[in-house]
Amino acid sequence: MSAAKHPKGKDLEKKLDAVREKIRHHEYRYYVLDNPEISDAQFDVLMNELKAIEAEHPELITPDSPTQRVGGKPREGFVKAQHSSPMLSLDNTYNEDDLRNWERRVHELTGRSDVDYVCELKLDGMSLALRYEDGQLVRGITRGDGSIGEDVTLNVRTVRSIPLSIPKDKLKKAGVPANFEVRGEMLMPLAAFKKMNDERAAHGLSTFANPRNATAGTVRQLEPSITAQRRLDYFGYMLLVDGRTYFDRHWRTLEALDAAGFKVNSYRTLAKNFDEVWRFIEKEEKKRESLPYEIDGIVVKVDRTPLQQELGFTGKAPRWAIAYKYAARGGITQVEDILVQVGRTGKLTPVAALTPVPIGGTTVSRATLHNMDEIERLGVKIGDWVEVERGGDVIPKVTRVVDDKDHPRGHKEFHMPERCPVCGGHVIRTEGEADHRCVNANCPAKLRETILHFASRHVMNIEGMGDALVNQLTDKGLVKNVAGIYKLTKDDLLSLERMGDKSAQNVLDEIEASKKLPLERVIFGLGIRFVGERTAQFLAEHFGSMDALMQANLEELQEVNEVGPRIAESILEFFAEPKNRELVEQLRKAGLAFTGKKKERGTKLAGKTFVLTGTLGHFTRDEAKKLIEDAGGRVSGSVSKKTDYVVAGSEAGSKLDKAKELGVAVIDEEEMARLLR
Ligand code: IVH
Repeated sequence: MSAAKHPKGKDLEKKLDAVREKIRHHEYRYYVLDNPEISDAQFDVLMNELKAIEAEHPELITPDSPTQRVGGKPREGFVKAQHSSPMLSLDNTYNEDDLRNWERRVHELTGRSDVDYVCELKLDGMSLALRYEDGQLVRGITRGDGSIGEDVTLNVRTVRSIPLSIPKDKLKKAGVPANFEVRGEMLMPLAAFKKMNDERAAHGLSTFANPRNATAGTVRQLEPSITAQRRLDYFGYMLLVDGRTYFDRHWRTLEALDAAGFKVNSYRTLAKNFDEVWRFIEKEEKKRESLPYEIDGIVVKVDRTPLQQELGFTGKAPRWAIAYKYAARGGITQVEDILVQVGRTGKLTPVAALTPVPIGGTTVSRATLHNMDEIERLGVKIGDWVEVERGGDVIPKVTRVVDDKDHPRGHKEFHMPERCPVCGGHVIRTEGEADHRCVNANCPAKLRETILHFASRHVMNIEGMGDALVNQLTDKGLVKNVAGIYKLTKDDLLSLERMGDKSAQNVLDEIEASKKLPLERVIFGLGIRFVGERTAQFLAEHFGSMDALMQANLEELQEVNEVGPRIAESILEFFAEPKNRELVEQLRKAGLAFTGKKKERGTKLAGKTFVLTGTLGHFTRDEAKKLIEDAGGRVSGSVSKKTDYVVAGSEAGSKLDKAKELGVAVIDEEEMARLLR
């Protein structure tokens, strides 16, 4: 990928540089300063311009181009990486006296009484080290056990407040050498956390208990494109060169990080004495509720590096810094019972029914226990005393079981019911997943959501059947499952509010028209877990009829493109439920498309299995996959003896090694394109 191949392209390179620099500037304004100068649409125009040039000249793509944040897949797992010096944790204090004691010790050990302190927010995320070489981000490493972490570079690259490269002159101005390491906190802002959990719940996936867990889960995602969607943020608070603190004052470090283009938290102060430290602690606690991310306290650090060195460490924590933890916004109360709520996606959530307790101005009598894993982690039983926390707009949650002489343990263990408490359908828990769910597609708890999905544009496209109508239909009991849509009469519709003759007729026409939609839409409309639009299409093309699909066994299902054991099992479970089979029969009677064409795919690559690895230059992963599939080939996620070709892009990882080990043919993109021709 060297530009030397294009000697004539000097102007083009200049142009590319200029566009990239512009984009970097606006990313910085938006993601680091939270202060954009242009609209999102204007930003997209710039980005599209860059993408267009790079598509025509893939040889000019550089790894630090703003288009290259997402690329590649970190193999099957993460590789371990050694830290340049141990990543330490902090000792905690919970009250003013302990904090004063800490300060006294600092005075005693240094023999000075005029020590400056830097106070920062204690951000509630996960600490992460970023290594830069020659101004380029080369590695992102999790804390791990402090001396060895995991290499999560590909995921870290997707976080837009982290610069992929920093120009020489900028580093120089900041006083930072070209090779350095930043340590700081990765976190998920509350808004992103809420959005992600809502989306996960809507897709029937388990939700994260708090932003910190969500951050860790996202950073350790094996699919960087997912990390990219989840909007993490990163604040720097340490700068190391050769594993050592570089500047002589911590305050100066924060300023240098800021000048180099990193996001540095602006809520910080340089305190001259204990009173100033305490004032900061009190002032920030008031702001806590209104911050867009979670904090759990304040970190107080001795400002001068030489003093830090004098003070040294005890075990895993420095003596020169301490965390003052804010009191949890919680209370202690007793679990009277554990109930089960069924969500719209069929997820069963255990909820603790509590003796009402006032917390931060409201009375809390219910707290979520999330799922069975969480109940086991907490070890909570009915009758236990628990600590309950309420944070931001998150529902109250149980954080721990209290076990002391004033709070005896409860004895009654909780078990998930085998039948759905709402409809009596089977409750299942897929292996490897935290959530239990009701598999009955007709479960009233799921009905509204199921109907909305069924009627939506990408599914049966019944215009007019939105929230307002579906609410009325389900409230009045006019539609009890999606097949009920096809039994609606004009009189039924006319009995509803805001429904005149004309609109009623329109809805009926739309319903009638939906019967002509192809089999894949009907399959998609059933709302089988993990069966999205694309999978539904593959299933329809492969089996050619609903009956063939319903009769398929586990192996046969897995012969379908992109269908692995997880999806296959979900399909089997769905059709194993008698209520679902009954629903399918009702849809058949209603006259929906139950047969389709088995698709004659291209045959060029028939029977051939491909594995894609590394970053491809000309195609996105999805594009390459589609090309192969359209030519009759199959794309698999892992290399085995059955693999015919491994298509290796740049930075190919362990899949390439595996291919070599097994003697599987390794080809590049050009060869792949040739096979398709
Ligand atoms: S300094 C040797 N500063 O708190 C000093 N840590 O309980 C190491 N944290 O592992 C950390 N905000 O993940 C520092 N402003 C801040 C912080 C912070 C959050 C986290 C960090 C660390 C943990 C220690």
